[in-house]
Amino acid sequence: MIFKQATILDLNEMQQLYVETIQTVCKNDYDSAQIKAWISGVKNTERWIEVIEKQFVLLAIIENKIVGFGTLKDGNYIDFFYIHKDFQRQGIADKILNELENEARKHHSEIITSDISITAKPFFEKKGFAVKAKQKNIRLGVELINFKMEKKL
Ligand SMILES: CC(C)(COP(=O)(O)OP(=O)(O)OC[C@H]1O[C@@H](n2cnc3c(N)ncnc32)[C@H](O)[C@@H]1OP(=O)(O)O)[C@@H](O)C(=O)NCCC(=O)NCCS
Repeated sequence: MIFKQATILDLNEMQQLYVETIQTVCKNDYDSAQIKAWISGVKNTERWIEVIEKQFVLLAIIENKIVGFGTLKDGNYIDFFYIHKDFQRQGIADKILNELENEARKHHSEIITSDISITAKPFFEKKGFAVKAKQKNIRLGVELINFKMEKKL
């Protein structure tokens, strides 16, 4: 596995991974209306382009295929964090998170935060993140639960 920073050319593959992971990996934690509302975020092209242009966007690559990605905003906030549906539980999230934490340290950040799905919460807890708040977000009229989590670096 190698790491690579994303460019705009990676956008389509990242978005496909995002949609497929939410549809398969998160379906035990969110109902179909919630999944639909969540993946509707893929249509916000402006937001995705801004992520690639302004954030630290790290891709994990195996044989030229994106198997996971994580993004760090402003040196201290994990915005996107998704592992390919066919590459779950192989330690890829672990490796990407270590890299994002190292990047945050380079920015002299003392804490790293994120808004974490029900699905990803056990992973982030294992990595030392603590829940600060349970949040209810409304997207397309549908309620989506996630958790504000943070870790001291
Ligand atoms: C949560 C997620 C990022 C974990 O990715 P992963 O590459 O499978 O995780 P890793 O293999 O690095 O896991 C490392 C350890 O974390 C823990 N862990 C990972 N996923 C877990 C889960 N669903 N439940 C409990 N523990 C989990 C385990 O202890 C695991 O070690 P083990 O496999 O030896 O037991 C991945 O399942 C995912 O993409 N989820 C859906 C997307 C999502 O919700 N993203 C977050 C948006 S905020």
